[in-house]
Amino acid sequence: MKRKKLLLTLFTACMLIASNVFITSCAKEGPAGKDGINGTNGTNGTNGANGADGADGTASCIECHSPAGIELAATQYELSKHSYGEAAFEEAGSTTCGPCHLSEAFKYVCANNTPSTFTLNTTTNKYVNDYFVAPTAAYGEITCGTCHSSIHTTYSTGDLALTTVAPVSMSMWGGAKTINAAADGGRSNLCIKCHQPRPFTASAGNGNVLDYVGIAANPTAVFYDPTSTTNLLKPAYRTHTHYGTAGAVFAGMGGVEFAGANSYLNSRHTIDASCQDCHMATMSGAAGGHSFKAKGNFNGCNAEGCHTGVSSSSTDYWTTPRAAVKAKLEELASLLQVNGVEILNRNPDAEANLWVSNTSNKYDGYLNIYDPINNPDFAANNPTGTFQNPSPSNSWTQDQKDFNLTLPKITLTNAQMGGIINFQLCLRDYSLGIHNYKYTMALLQNSIAVQ
Ligand code: HEC
Ligand code: HEC
Ligand code: HEC
Ligand code: HEC
Ligand code: HEC
Repeated sequence: MKRKKLLLTLFTACMLIASNVFITSCAKEGPAGKDGINGTNGTNGTNGANGADGADGTASCIECHSPAGIELAATQYELSKHSYGEAAFEEAGSTTCGPCHLSEAFKYVCANNTPSTFTLNTTTNKYVNDYFVAPTAAYGEITCGTCHSSIHTTYSTGDLALTTVAPVSMSMWGGAKTINAAADGGRSNLCIKCHQPRPFTASAGNGNVLDYVGIAANPTAVFYDPTSTTNLLKPAYRTHTHYGTAGAVFAGMGGVEFAGANSYLNSRHTIDASCQDCHMATMSGAAGGHSFKAKGNFNGCNAEGCHTGVSSSSTDYWTTPRAAVKAKLEELASLLQVNGVEILNRNPDAEANLWVSNTSNKYDGYLNIYDPINNPDFAANNPTGTFQNPSPSNSWTQDQKDFNLTLPKITLTNAQMGGIINFQLCLRDYSLGIHNYKYTMALLQNSIAVQ
């Protein structure tokens, strides 16, 4: 939707004429032009007089540094997880996590157009993910300058321009697919550059991205067999699609698209809406604006002639579609079993499980595999996991290793692996279908049908 530019410069005339030297020339009375012989110089003289009219060196500062400008944005920003989240500290120094978690690293991948390809290292015969940054750029909390990287370069409101609106070459496909969310000048692409899933790789194979098309085409084929030596990956508690799935679901990409009764269509949001329409709407409570939160704020739904009267009690646009997606998530989870044991993990701890309210059984999208190690970075792993861990760690005690061997082994078909990936993708977009109802339902229903 077309959204009117919020900040129109009040001092355009002064800025246009004297943009290079405005701090001095707008502040003082402009020098009178020399008398011109041919008239051109005479025009310059007029410019000087306009400079005098500007007469305020702080004008451009005030356009941003006002209570309604950056001060308001900064107040709202305190409510944003970009600001209060701790991942930027935890991932500091990481050249591979950095592009999405660290300010300098994000600006680095934008400025250098870092490719999201995978390249074969012919020495190790393993593929390497090319989407990483130099160690010198692997730091920085996400802040104003992450998204507005030109602040204080010309001291004009143009400096608020977004760091990137370019189409996003997707990391999860090794660059083979690109998302271009073109609504509103492509501003969703800024968000999607970070809010895209990380690649699922053949970590026990050649390290390349998993072939989702191949998985979808052969649902009955074996994906993981504990007795095989050619498995592409060994399932573990944290075998998962990394959190930023909203961008891919919104764009209608990123799932294992099993053939089935449901076509992979997109809702109108994909074409007509931008992330900002819903996540930066007029504030309501703690959501909207630079809090980037959509939760409990329906101002975006009802703006710009999109919907009218949508609220948390609306059936057609809120409760019914969300309940339908929740029911499909639960149905798929209940079907993902090996010998009567559920593959997906349940975790009722609302602090550790970010998706605790999205299903009745409180799935967290991880797998129900034994992992006794308490990693301080991840609170607890999975000491109550039911399946045997195919990759016991050297750091386990002998008792833990012995206990692991008493547990049943997990096996996976392509239908199950694809079902797990699609479950994680749809659970972890948080919105229960609001981002892209048609695509979400098609993924879940076709996944259910192949189990
Ligand atoms: C394009 C909008 C914009 C304009 C124009 C602008 N600023 Fe800023 N300025 C910002 C933002 C954004 C911040 C960071 C605010 C924050 O972190 O809360 C900032 C921060 C600052 C700071 C705090 C130190 C820092 O760098 O974080 C100072 C001082 C400052 N600006 C001075 C000025 C002066 C003087 C002018 C005019 C010559 C000016 N600014 C014009 C957007 C602007
Ligand atoms: C530089 C990468 C980056 C960009 C750009 C970015 N985000 Fe984020 N976003 C993150 C990360 C990383 C987190 C999680 C931070 C943490 O937990 O410490 C996050 C968190 C969030 C959350 C909170 C999620 C939760 O679990 O509560 C929302 C909502 C969000 N972003 C929306 C947006 C929107 C909308 C945009 C575009 C206007 C955007 N983000 C742009 C990286 C980014
Ligand atoms: C392609 C972008 C991308 C990469 C690369 C990436 N992340 Fe993330 N990560 C995100 C986004 C986006 C979120 C927040 C998603 C949300 O809340 O919807 C996130 C969330 C997280 C969280 C959860 C924070 C919380 O809110 O509790 C952790 C922990 C995390 N990432 C760790 C890592 C680590 C470790 C790496 C590197 C091995 C990494 N990430 C690489 C995009 C990325
Ligand atoms: C995650 C990305 C992101 C971060 C971080 C961010 N902004 Fe923004 N900001 C945006 C987007 C997107 C817009 C809307 C731009 C558009 O529609 O063209 C915007 C717009 C603005 C505007 C224009 C008026 C408005 O509110 O829409 C101001 C002023 C502003 N930002 C200041 C800030 C300040 C100050 C900070 C830090 C406290 C900040 N921004 C942090 C993404 C971000
Ligand atoms: C049509 C409105 C709409 C659009 C467009 C939209 N979102 Fe959302 N988003 C939502 C709703 C609604 C939720 C769930 C809020 C809740 O939990 O009640 C949500 C949840 C999220 C969350 C989880 C954190 C939270 O606030 O609960 C993230 C992260 C997110 N969206 C990112 C994005 C990104 C990135 C885009 C653009 C690619 C986007 N969204 C586009 C409506 C939207």
